Amino acid sequence: MQALIDTDPGIDDALALLYAWGSPGLTVAGITTVAGNVEVHDATVNLFRLLGLRRPQPEPPVAQGAAQPLARPLVTAKGYHGVDGLGDLPDWPAVHPSLPAIDAADFILDMTRHATEPLTLIALGPLTNVAHALTRGHETLHRLARVVVMGGAVDVPGNVTPTAEFNLHVDPEAAVRVLDSGLRLDLVPLDATRQAVVVRADLARTLARRPGPLATRIAAFTERGFRVDAERGTAGMILHDPLAVAVAIDPTLVQWESTRLTVGADGTTRRAAGPPNCRVARVVDVPRFLAAFLDRLCPAS
Ligand code: RIB
Ligand code: CA
Repeated sequence: MQALIDTDPGIDDALALLYAWGSPGLTVAGITTVAGNVEVHDATVNLFRLLGLRRPQPEPPVAQGAAQPLARPLVTAKGYHGVDGLGDLPDWPAVHPSLPAIDAADFILDMTRHATEPLTLIALGPLTNVAHALTRGHETLHRLARVVVMGGAVDVPGNVTPTAEFNLHVDPEAAVRVLDSGLRLDLVPLDATRQAVVVRADLARTLARRPGPLATRIAAFTERGFRVDAERGTAGMILHDPLAVAVAIDPTLVQWESTRLTVGADGTTRRAAGPPNCRVARVVDVPRFLAAFLDRLCPAS
């Protein structure tokens, strides 16, 4: 399958990208950045840091996206991801992002329009770029095979307010547009991602088997994620975005529920009457997911 990934790296976004690049059967046809965890410029810098670290082949084209949500000021998540968005390590090599003249929304539309097979769009941050693409090319976007979104909190508490999940909280207006779009939407909310927890010892054991610069760097930038999740009472690090990528590749990793969701003014997702507008990931086959995640994250160098 071929996928476009829209992302706001972000520690878990970084793990999701590394997982995607290590997944056989998935070609990452393009990557776009969006403001979310950090400002969009820093999200782009982080993406190029990861491209330089992992050097995926083929190297995917990149486009930068929205600097602000559709209708409200940006709220970032630097308290979790660090000021730079990747754990504030002091020694990343300098990067010099090369970007096309078009923005992420036009890039997504161009890639979708010219794809030789229907693409899967995987959204790992606020839905601002996807909403812009819908506004500019609603019909084109309906050529996508699926849109897999990490976001929402349906029957569980939020992680940025008592009821709202971060990605939908940052840009609720964009989330409304995507949910009302009629796209084939697979939502991977906190209801599912909170089951997808990797413990430090398992990650350390995996990285120790694949020593090298990539393993060392993964151990370093995930340190903050483990620490903050532990402070919030989790016995490991929650793999929000890697689960969304895993589910895009293998939908059988979760049990789905078709339902209709609405998005409130602060990004709260709640069930609503009427025909389904998405599928929601409910129960995760955690052992199978974690086995694939740990196997693909860091190839032997
Ligand atoms: O709520 C989790 C989501 O918010 C993840 O995508 C994480 O990267 C943050 O963006
Ligand atoms: Ca993210």
